[in-house]
Amino acid sequence: MATLYFFSTLVLTIVVSVPINVLGSAYCGPVEAIDKDLVQFPLNLEFLEAEFFLNGALGLGLDAFEPGFAAGGPPPIGAQKANLDPVTRRIIEEFGYQEVGHLRAIITTVGGVPRPLYDLSPEAFAQLFDKAVGYKLDPPFNPYSNTVNYLLASYAIPYVGLVGYVGTIPHLANYTSRRLVASLLGVESGQDAVIRTLLYEKADEKVLPYDITVAEFTNAISGIRNELAMCGIRDEGLIVPLNLGAENRTESNILSADTNSLSYARTPQQILRIIYGTGSEYMPGGFLPRGGSGKIARSFLDKV
Ligand SMILES: *[C@@H]1O[C@H](CO)[C@@H](O)[C@H](O)[C@H]1NC(C)=O
Ligand SMILES: *[C@@H]1O[C@H](CO)[C@@H](O)[C@H](O)[C@H]1NC(C)=O
Repeated sequence: MATLYFFSTLVLTIVVSVPINVLGSAYCGPVEAIDKDLVQFPLNLEFLEAEFFLNGALGLGLDAFEPGFAAGGPPPIGAQKANLDPVTRRIIEEFGYQEVGHLRAIITTVGGVPRPLYDLSPEAFAQLFDKAVGYKLDPPFNPYSNTVNYLLASYAIPYVGLVGYVGTIPHLANYTSRRLVASLLGVESGQDAVIRTLLYEKADEKVLPYDITVAEFTNAISGIRNELAMCGIRDEGLIVPLNLGAENRTESNILSADTNSLSYARTPQQILRIIYGTGSEYMPGGFLPRGGSGKIARSFLDKV
């Protein structure tokens, strides 16, 4: 009995101290962290959104507007000006400026972190989209080549920030940080709603030259995010089975939400599994080839 107890303790210790996902079961509980670290963590997504939107609309990155915010971190790889219609360009430009404001709000409240290295190249998006549909798209998916592609690529980003904010708020101890994150959440969810609405207008259209509709792409992206994060359904595409629609009464799913139409929540670990594209918070890759910044993201990398 004593031997068995010792042995199972040993196994438990090993399970806890190696990359958990490698063993096929993921940790879905909260991260232990103080407010400052919880509020700095989303900088990883806010920098990404700022760079993607500003570059997509204007061909300029964060450094053209607020060079100090990067705190010495490198500019992103591969971000480009996208070929957008005038209305979409206007919307994305505004979103880009909003992200600059979000960065300022976080940095002035809790301090900044160095901007991590991002890979926003067409190849990085193509990899995610290949993974989402389950085969190599031919030609490779290019987020910058037209409006619908750019919107699909955008579908992949603010939503992750939004569910992260929903997940963070209940764990914040202090009024100042709760107020800040609630206000960030409001605008992130607005951005997500706009992107999803623009895509819903084209839900049944094929994304040329592929034989895949806009709605099918959103379902595939949401599917791969659920798969990478490994903690159940917290992400739904634009057209869903009735049992995932609002009140089980509609297959339209312009907003992604749970059975009572409440926002889903994600933990920092789940978010890292998604934006690394590796399904592991211990294995950088995807949009963050060297991993995220700040205490929470680094804590997983320092263990490897
Ligand atoms: C609350 O958090 C803010 C931002 O991190 C900090 O400046 C402030 O001192 C904190 N207040 C308390 C009472 O901990
Ligand atoms: C919708 O269906 C799910 C099961 O798929 C069930 O748990 C939920 O209670 C239903 N909601 C309503 C409002 O009937």
